Amino acid sequence: MCGIVGYIGNAPEEHLLHGLEVLEYRGYDSAGIAVIHHGKMSIYKEIGRVANLKGKVIETEEFGAGIAHTRWATHGKVSLQNAHPQLSQNKDIAVVHNGIIENYNLLKEQLLKNGVKFDGDTDSEVIAKLFKDNLSIQTLKEVIDRLEGSYATLVVSKNENRIYFARNKLPLYLTKTSQSIILASDPMCFINQSKDYYDIGDGEYGYADLNSIKIYKNDQCVRKKKNKISFNIKTLANKEFNHYMLKEIYQSKDALINILENYKKKKIIKILNHIASIDTDKIYLIGCGTAYHAGLIGKTYLKKYLKKEVECVLASEFIYQNNIITNKTLCIFISQSGETADTILALKHSQKFGAKTVCITNVTYSSLATLADFTLPIYAGVERAVASTKAYFAQCIILYILARKMAGRRYLANIKKFLHEIDFSDDSLIQKLATMIYSKREIFFIGKSVDFITCEEASLKLKEISYINSQAFACGELKHGTLALIDNKKLIIVIATQSQLLNKVLSSASEIKSRGGQLVLFTPLSLTPQIKKIFKVIIPIKQAEEDFMPLQTILPLQKLAYFTAVKKGNDPDMPRNLAKSVTVE
Ligand code: AGP
Ligand code: GLU
Repeated sequence: MCGIVGYIGNAPEEHLLHGLEVLEYRGYDSAGIAVIHHGKMSIYKEIGRVANLKGKVIETEEFGAGIAHTRWATHGKVSLQNAHPQLSQNKDIAVVHNGIIENYNLLKEQLLKNGVKFDGDTDSEVIAKLFKDNLSIQTLKEVIDRLEGSYATLVVSKNENRIYFARNKLPLYLTKTSQSIILASDPMCFINQSKDYYDIGDGEYGYADLNSIKIYKNDQCVRKKKNKISFNIKTLANKEFNHYMLKEIYQSKDALINILENYKKKKIIKILNHIASIDTDKIYLIGCGTAYHAGLIGKTYLKKYLKKEVECVLASEFIYQNNIITNKTLCIFISQSGETADTILALKHSQKFGAKTVCITNVTYSSLATLADFTLPIYAGVERAVASTKAYFAQCIILYILARKMAGRRYLANIKKFLHEIDFSDDSLIQKLATMIYSKREIFFIGKSVDFITCEEASLKLKEISYINSQAFACGELKHGTLALIDNKKLIIVIATQSQLLNKVLSSASEIKSRGGQLVLFTPLSLTPQIKKIFKVIIPIKQAEEDFMPLQTILPLQKLAYFTAVKKGNDPDMPRNLAKSVTVE
C-alpha cells in the first residue's frame, strides 16, 4: 500500500518530498529518498511521517534524479532497515517498491546461499539484492522475470540520471514536462505540472530520462496513448479545519452539489441508460469497509425500487463463496480509491464468468475504473483522511440514483430537496458526548433495519480512529447473546430513525436499561417525557425523506468518531496501522 514517486529535473528533493506528502495517504510507517547528483547517491530514511524526513533531507536547486517511498509495512517490521529505498548488492542501485513479492523467501534463500548479505527483512529488499552491479533494461527484465506477486517499482543507479520502472497489478503513472520526468503511484503527485500522463500497464517495464521514454512488454517496445486528468469538483467548505476528516464531513454537501450538477449531463445519463438496459437476474454489490456499508445501503434501495435479487458481499470474501455468477449477473463494485486489491480481484473474478461490471468510485482513472464495463463517478473530490466520510455519503447517493434509474424513476428532484435538508448537527452537543465516551473501553451501537447499517458504519468509524473497541448489533439480536455483556459500565448508542420500528427499538433499549447499561439516542422522532428518561443523552437529527435518513444520521456519528479521537489525542486523519488505499490482499 506504499506510495512511490520518481523525479528527474531541477530540485529533485523538493519534488520528491512533495510527491511523498501527496502519497502519504497510502502509508506512513516510514519514508525514504534516494537522490543522485553528479554520480553520487544520497539516501535519507526516517521512521514515521514524511514530515520527519523533511527536516533531514538536504535540499538542492541542482539538476538530479531520485526516487522516494512512503511505506505501509506488509513484510518486516517498521524499521530504518526495512524502510525503502533498498540497495543492491554493491549499493549503487536503489529500489522503491509498492506491493508484495510472494516468492521472496525462495529468492532470498538462493541469494543467501550465494553469499549475498541482507540488511533487513522486508520482501522488497530481494528486488534490490537481485541487482548485482549493473542496471540496464536487460538486468531489470531479468530481475522482474524472477518476481511473483504484485509490484510497482522504481530503480535508479548512481551512474545515470534515468529512472527504470516496472509494474504488475499496482498503479504507476508517468509524465514528462519540458524540464522533468515524474513517475508516481497517483497522478495527483504531478497534477500541478502536467495533466497528461501515461498509465503504465500490467507487465510493462522500461526507463525514462529527459531524452527518451521507453516502455516494453514481453521484450517488445510498446507505444502508449496519453491520458488526461480532468477535475471538475467544487468545494464550498473553505472554512479552516484542524483536520481533513472534519472538513471532509462538511464537504458531503459539496459532493451532493457536484453530483446534482454532473448527473444531469448527457455523458453520465448515457452510462446510466446503458446500465439500466442490462438484462440481469441477479445483482451483487461488492466493496470493503465503508464502501461495503455503502453497498448495504445500496441494497436497500435496489430491493425497494427494483424488486430483484440483490446481495451485498465483502470484496475479500467474494471469490471464496461459490457465488453464482453468469452473463446475466450485474456486479457493482464500490470503492473510493478504485485501487483496493480485494475489490479489484473480485471484479476480475466476476468478469471471468461473464458478469457485467459497474464501478462506483471517486477516482475515475483508477485501476477499478479502467477494468469495469461502466464507471459511475461519485464526484466527492479528493478524500485525504483515512476514515472515509464524504465518499460514503456520495457512494450512497449514487446507489440511490442507480436504483431509481434502473427502476425507471426520477431522482434529481428528491436529491435537490435533500440538499436543503442536510443538517450537520450542533458540534457542541457531539463534543459533549465525545467527552462522555472517550475514556470507555467499549461502545455498542444498536439499531434496526437500515439503522443497523448506520450502526455498523458508525462503529467502524469510531474504532478506526479512536481505537475504542466498538461493535454494532441489530436490536433483535441482543437477546441472542450480546445482552450477556451489558453491565453498568457499558454505553450503548441507539439509532432510531424509523417511526414504525420505534417501539421495537425502545423495547431493546429497555432491556439494556434494566441491566444497568447507559443509553444514548440519536433520533429525529419526538418522544414522550417518560421515554426520554431512559436515555442519558438524546441527540436530535433533522428529519429528511426516508431514503436519505441513513445519510442524515451518519453525519453526527462521523463527527462523534472525530471528536472522540481528537479528545484521546489521536490523529484522526492518519490512524495507526491503517492506510487510505489498501492495495494488498
Ligand atoms: C473507511 O473509513 C476505511 N478506512 C476503509 O474501510 C475503506 O472504506 C476501505 O478500505 C475501502 O476503501 P476503498 O473505498 O478505497 O475501496
Ligand atoms: N512489501 C513492501 C514492504 O513491506 C511494500 C509494502 C506495500 O507496498 O504495501 O516494505
